[in-house]
Amino acid sequence: MANADEPTRRNFLYVATGTVGAIGAASLAWPFIDQMNPDASTRALASIEVDVSSIEEGQAITVKWRGKPVFIRNRTNKEVEEGKEVPLADLRDTDARNKNHEGEKATDVNRSAGADKENWIVMIGSCTHLGCVPVGTAGDFGGWFCPCHGSHYDTAGRIRKGPAPENLAIPIYNFLSDTKIQIG
Ligand code: FES
Repeated sequence: MANADEPTRRNFLYVATGTVGAIGAASLAWPFIDQMNPDASTRALASIEVDVSSIEEGQAITVKWRGKPVFIRNRTNKEVEEGKEVPLADLRDTDARNKNHEGEKATDVNRSAGADKENWIVMIGSCTHLGCVPVGTAGDFGGWFCPCHGSHYDTAGRIRKGPAPENLAIPIYNFLSDTKIQIG
């Protein structure tokens, strides 16, 4: 006859399952807790430095910053002149959408790295419609084209045609030297 103090098989199974459950929960919890404490490499990505010395006139690169693509384009003089000629009245979005020039108008210079570096455009590569990554040197305005639903951006990244409501966003950045940009 079984001792009343001994756990029955049913009790034992219950205890064993409870223990496994607790271990399972503990091991699952770790990754989440870990993600809440960004390590040094994650914090470093808050800002990045990019060497732009190899980007020839007319070329662009895409870098990754905080998980997003960032376009860096060295525009040709022709592209800059075309951008400057566009009247603000022709723009769908007249806000520069430039974190370095909050609230300013979307003139070519306000969209660029400044009067002495107007050839440089640095923008988040995420279409303002639904977030697809636009294709460079494409579309009706020679800037960027988003193939998802047909948004056309000009060479200053301003929305000119298609469903996107806003110009491509410009992050905080600055030139540390003539050839190095810090983003973020
Ligand atoms: S996501 Fe770019 S046009 Fe829709």
